[in-house]
Amino acid sequence: MAQCSRPCLRGVGRRGVLATGLVVAPALLRPAFADDPAALPPQPGDRFAHLTGPRKGQVVADGDLPLGGPQVQAYPIDIKSGLVRDQSRLNLVILARFDPATLSAETRARAADGVVAYSGVCTHQGCAVNMWVTSKSALYCSCHGSTYDPRDGAAVIAGPAPRSLPSLALATADEAPFVTGGFSGHVGPTQQ
Ligand code: FES
Repeated sequence: MAQCSRPCLRGVGRRGVLATGLVVAPALLRPAFADDPAALPPQPGDRFAHLTGPRKGQVVADGDLPLGGPQVQAYPIDIKSGLVRDQSRLNLVILARFDPATLSAETRARAADGVVAYSGVCTHQGCAVNMWVTSKSALYCSCHGSTYDPRDGAAVIAGPAPRSLPSLALATADEAPFVTGGFSGHVGPTQQ
């Protein structure tokens, strides 16, 4: 499989790797300021705003997430103020929806109606996890091929990533997911 030295997008690959229209977030290139509410990590009650696509900037609803994948990229949004927390490269989130019966027990406990949320920043070298492997129903980082199982806590199933993607615990209201707690672990590469 051809590899990229930086985040990239591709069409359907020879091994069924699907470019989903996901993009590398511009905010990945911008510095974050700790006192900027738009740079705060996801807060309890936050919903999610689409990063791209026809609903870019709008709140992610359960129905926007195709059952069984692929993932959708988003940023947390304070629903009361409409503030999108897109000023930190570490706030990129990926959402996907599955039959709850197919999720591991631990994953199901943090999901809401089968919707799971993970950091969208690869734990290897910090690229955006922006692709999808249809044959494995798996999240894929196109930089060096790390592959994560979204139904099992985003565990690493291939590639050089040293850790699973941190997850966000979710609940749902009005048929849209929202955050109930912070990331389950360190976001991005260990060395930054
Ligand atoms: S940054 Fe290397 S596999 Fe993702």
